[in-house]
Amino acid sequence: MKFFIDTANVDAIRKAHERGMVDGVTTNPSLVAKEGRDFRKIVDEIASFVEGPISLEVISEDAEGMIKEARDLNSWIDNAAIKIPMTWDGMKAVKQLSDEGIKTNVTLVFSPNQAILAAKAGATFVSPFIGRLDDVGQIGMEIIEAIVQIYANYGFDTEVLVASIRHPIHVYEAALIGADIATIPPSVLEKMVNHPLTDAGIKRFLEDWEKVKKLKT
Ligand code: E4P
Repeated sequence: MKFFIDTANVDAIRKAHERGMVDGVTTNPSLVAKEGRDFRKIVDEIASFVEGPISLEVISEDAEGMIKEARDLNSWIDNAAIKIPMTWDGMKAVKQLSDEGIKTNVTLVFSPNQAILAAKAGATFVSPFIGRLDDVGQIGMEIIEAIVQIYANYGFDTEVLVASIRHPIHVYEAALIGADIATIPPSVLEKMVNHPLTDAGIKRFLEDWEKVKKLKT
């Protein structure tokens, strides 16, 4: 399972990278806006140490505009994956960009049928937003299960990138299903290492080792 980091915060990405947990990065306009910095500068900084795909999102709504923007974003760095929204114009753009060898990530996906369209258009990644589905009372993880099954049925190459992750159980469930990638907010990654029995175990081992040390002297 690959881990992408879901943020535009360079320090947070660097921290996760130093821990060996960054196979790629996803950004979106809201995450970039939170940083209050020049987008191009942020992207260059991330690309200076992240080797895996870095998702950069277009804001055009028509296919022609998306393609133009995507080509430009793709020229910024060697490892861009261009995020394109799930619309018919988006699908036209994905088809063209995939024919040109540009990596795409179809975003704002909320149903298995949308994921089928993304795969047929030749998307590199499909991003179903599970947290936002949970928010409206639909179990987001159910569509991950369906999409993974459908892609396996037909041997689609598009990778399932589980997005809108809100807590560690989302990561665990995505892994159980066999999703290719989870894009994880830094706060969720931070929590994944925690277990009270680990803390208690370390404490007890250290206390016992103090007893061993006393025996030696
Ligand atoms: C990542 O590619 C998505 O843009 C992101 O996971 C969306 O998360 P949110 O629903 O918490 O905004």
